[in-house]
Amino acid sequence: MKILIKNCKEILQVRDQHIEKLEGEAMKTLPMLENAFLLIEDDLIADYGTMNNCPSDTSVDQVIDASGKTILPTWVDSHTHLVYAGNRELEFVDRINGLSYEEIFNRGGGILNSAKKLQEATEEELYEQARKRLEEVIHLGTGAIEIKSGYGLTLEAELKMLRVIKKLKENYPVAIKATFLGAHAFPADYKDNHEGYINLLIQEMIPAVAKENLAEYVDAFLETGYFSPEETERIIQAGQKYGLTAKVHVNQFTAIGGIETCVRNGALSVDHLEVVTDQDISILKGSKTMPVALPTCSFFISIPYTPARKMIDAGLPLALASDSNPGTTPSGNMNFVVSTACIKMKMTPEEAINAATINGAYAMGVEKQYGSITKGKKASIIITKPLHSFYELPYAFGTNNIDQVILNGQPQNKQ
Ligand code: NIG
Ligand code: FE
Repeated sequence: MKILIKNCKEILQVRDQHIEKLEGEAMKTLPMLENAFLLIEDDLIADYGTMNNCPSDTSVDQVIDASGKTILPTWVDSHTHLVYAGNRELEFVDRINGLSYEEIFNRGGGILNSAKKLQEATEEELYEQARKRLEEVIHLGTGAIEIKSGYGLTLEAELKMLRVIKKLKENYPVAIKATFLGAHAFPADYKDNHEGYINLLIQEMIPAVAKENLAEYVDAFLETGYFSPEETERIIQAGQKYGLTAKVHVNQFTAIGGIETCVRNGALSVDHLEVVTDQDISILKGSKTMPVALPTCSFFISIPYTPARKMIDAGLPLALASDSNPGTTPSGNMNFVVSTACIKMKMTPEEAINAATINGAYAMGVEKQYGSITKGKKASIIITKPLHSFYELPYAFGTNNIDQVILNGQPQNKQ
């Protein structure tokens, strides 16, 4: 099956060479072709170029005329908690009335509130809720997504979450990676027995997850009041024994040496980073660990934004992800993530798009297949509505400027 997209006003993120990630100064450049065509063969990008070299309509099975429209690779959302039961809109109102995220957690809300709901939900109910969220983000241009467990907090409920993720993987043409986040919070029963829960995680949960091959990554909420750097290190190392690489929630509220722990233990990514010290920046510099910012979490719970400008200007790479979850970010809209990064973190549109495509792909280990328009990569692309320029994507926040999404060469139904 060959699909030709012709008369594209511009094709963004065109990279002839495979690259892993972009850092510092290099993030400012977003290579593009104007007045161009893109040729898809089965699930792959077969060719692209300017219209003077466009193949004939008769040499392909389907032609899409993209006059006035922009083409870009689908978003890569490397950090989500898309599988959860119910929502937490009452906590949203509590925050409006003055309670902080921490105060709500200390009253038994927050993650433990979601865990209670999830433990009571059946696998079918969970799947049904999650698939609707997945379909929503696909139509918003997400073509690869990482999904975490972490609202189960018992062996049985964590496996239930991960089986739902596995089923989503089997049923949708979007690339999905699963992360085991049993270390999201200490369950009430282990409030005064942290050692007991860490042992459960290391001795029972991680081996069981690995046995069923339910996850690629391991995560922990490394934060004051949650998991310490030492506890997180034990969890990361236990995961490594079973082939799980670390991607860690760190420095959301406090800097307690977590970034050093993660980098030293070879984490693929460190995520959140609303609080970053100069020392953290020098530790990340030159490492293989991708820093990941989640600006719509900052937006929703009114906490500081990741200091993106400072980090990129210091030469670091940066990825953007949604953090879609019921507590701190009830939205998986990567278009809004990109807008918020530009508006609130002063990232240029070029930097933000690089961060939400190729750098996001690195942060979830799919950079060889996704994140750029490169021959041989998966044909997962966004076709926009007619735009004056691609700057209109982050500029017109709240407007859905996506006309059509193609995933692995399959055009998705328009909504
Ligand atoms: O990434 N901070 C830790 N975990 C999630 C939120 C968890 C929740 O409140 O449900 C996050 O923001
Ligand atoms: Fe998160």
